[in-house]
Amino acid sequence: MATKYSIPRGTYDILPDISYRRIYVEQMFYKIAATFNFKQIVTPIFERSDVFERSVGDTSDIVQKEMYRFTDKKGRKFALRPEGTASVVRSYVENNLGMAGGATRLCYSGPMFRYDRPQKGRYRQFYQYGVEYLGSDDPMVDAEIIALGHRYLTALGLKNFKLEINSIGSANCAKDYDAALVDYFTPHLDAMCRDCRQRIDKNPKRLLDCKVASCKAIAKDAPNMLEYLDDDCKTHFTAVQRYLAQMGIPFSVNPTIVRGLDYYNKTAFEFIDTNLGAQNTLIGGGRYNGLVAQFGGKDVPGIGFAGGFERLMLSMETEGCFFGEEPRPQIYFVALGNAAKVAAAGILYRLRSQGISAEYNVEKTSMKAQMKAADKSGAKGVLILGDDELKDNVVVLKWLETGKQKRIKIDNIAEELHPE
Ligand code: HAM
Repeated sequence: MATKYSIPRGTYDILPDISYRRIYVEQMFYKIAATFNFKQIVTPIFERSDVFERSVGDTSDIVQKEMYRFTDKKGRKFALRPEGTASVVRSYVENNLGMAGGATRLCYSGPMFRYDRPQKGRYRQFYQYGVEYLGSDDPMVDAEIIALGHRYLTALGLKNFKLEINSIGSANCAKDYDAALVDYFTPHLDAMCRDCRQRIDKNPKRLLDCKVASCKAIAKDAPNMLEYLDDDCKTHFTAVQRYLAQMGIPFSVNPTIVRGLDYYNKTAFEFIDTNLGAQNTLIGGGRYNGLVAQFGGKDVPGIGFAGGFERLMLSMETEGCFFGEEPRPQIYFVALGNAAKVAAAGILYRLRSQGISAEYNVEKTSMKAQMKAADKSGAKGVLILGDDELKDNVVVLKWLETGKQKRIKIDNIAEELHPE
């Protein structure tokens, strides 16, 4: 018996009946990004594993547990990319994209890979869209990046999302805050999970982010980051809020947002759909000043975000959003008899060359079967060619909605279908 194959756990096929929806949301992303003058960058789906290890950070879940690592034939260590920022920054430095000075605005989309327990809205191969802005620490840029995320969700017709922002400070304020967190959490450690116990020394802020219920209960009363911000971070965060207010973008400050990746500082934000269940972050992002320098470039500040298409589309389904028109052929060709079939080959090719989408089913020969298939295809019109028509160099054009029909010259079909 032939072996039956099945798809790897945590992955999925995008089947043809809904692939147009994915195309719609992806195209809308690039359209909105372009209005903010972002240009697309495409990087490989695998990189040297240290590209992620050093930037995403060795205390992150991604690096500790979720990376798909492999060694190639020459023993080099690679990983399937778990996210896009590290690759984009690697490329920015390697290709001197900042050479001309000023801002570099980059956007991307594509598959990412994380080994995690699959659930609704969480996959092992998932698809992210994202933007990265390199070259400024101005808080107006933070607001613009957030505005881009807001604009995208709004353009897709989503309404039930909220924006939460925070400042997680810089290395300068982190020292005092981390010490305060260690003081606070240490007496509770016995009641906390293994991850938290391990992380307290390396990155105590991650304890604020733990999803385990008992840890969450303890973290609830932990010291508030915002009270530890230095003057620079405080001024920056106040300015970001002022710019957002100016843009009319509603937000709330949530001091528990820390984000799960180590490269963040200053502004951190999330767009959340509260109807989605556990995996409810539509978009997550923040500032990562210092990351470019870590990759060997100049000390260029950066900020960006990324979101998963899967959750986005789940939200859109829940809210009944428009997903673009389902593609269907403009015309369905019905050929009766062998001579008509041969002629159809030439006519169809010419029509398609003129940009008209046309369907013809070689397996169906009778008028009845072909007309039934035409109805099913969703085509607007049918072109019928039999021996009589062929003799006169015409076809019958029948509009399926009205039932109206007329004979038209074969040479005039395109004109008739595209009157402009
Ligand atoms: P992240 O929070 O790890 O950040 O992921 C961003 C978004 O990707 C999440 O909010 C979620 O929508 C989606 N996502 C993440 N993991 C999965 C998964 N397993 N299945 C489905 N969707 C998922 C980053 O990746 C950063 N690179 C964002 C960023 C860009 N920060 C600055 N620039």
